[in-house]
Amino acid sequence: MVDIRHELNDFLFRFGGHIGYSVRPSERRKGYATLILKLALAKCKDIGINDCLVTCDEDNIGSAKVILNNGGIEDQSETDIDGIVKRRFWIKITNS
Ligand SMILES: CC(C)(COP(=O)(O)OP(=O)(O)OC[C@H]1O[C@@H](n2cnc3c(N)ncnc32)[C@H](O)[C@@H]1OP(=O)(O)O)[C@@H](O)C(=O)NCCC(=O)NCCS
Repeated sequence: MVDIRHELNDFLFRFGGHIGYSVRPSERRKGYATLILKLALAKCKDIGINDCLVTCDEDNIGSAKVILNNGGIEDQSETDIDGIVKRRFWIKITNS
């Protein structure tokens, strides 16, 4: 699954980002999340988002790789009220 948040509020800017995604456990590590994020970025471009924020928990190595695979540039992390550190990445969406 994937969801796209068309606008960022303060919470999304700090923790959630523009895009969330998840792959069912039996289908993980087959490249689906990397493809899902690529397709979601194209959709973001269609709706006028040119700089896309994508976040993941500090210990979510798979999600960080998905973001880096799609050109994520890391910004400052944020710590939420539960003490969970969210890594934050920007992806500039080009026409290619
Ligand atoms: C995170 C998640 C979306 C990754 O989905 P996926 O389809 O397995 O990701 P991909 O197959 O595209 O893997 C991308 C890379 O991460 C690596 N990877 C995936 N899961 C990993 C894990 N648990 N530990 C280490 N590396 C992992 C893959 O090997 C791949 O590496 P590569 O680019 O060097 O080949 C999936 O584990 C998931 O749904 N988790 C629960 C929900 C979640 O955390 N969503 C993201 C919220 S930010």
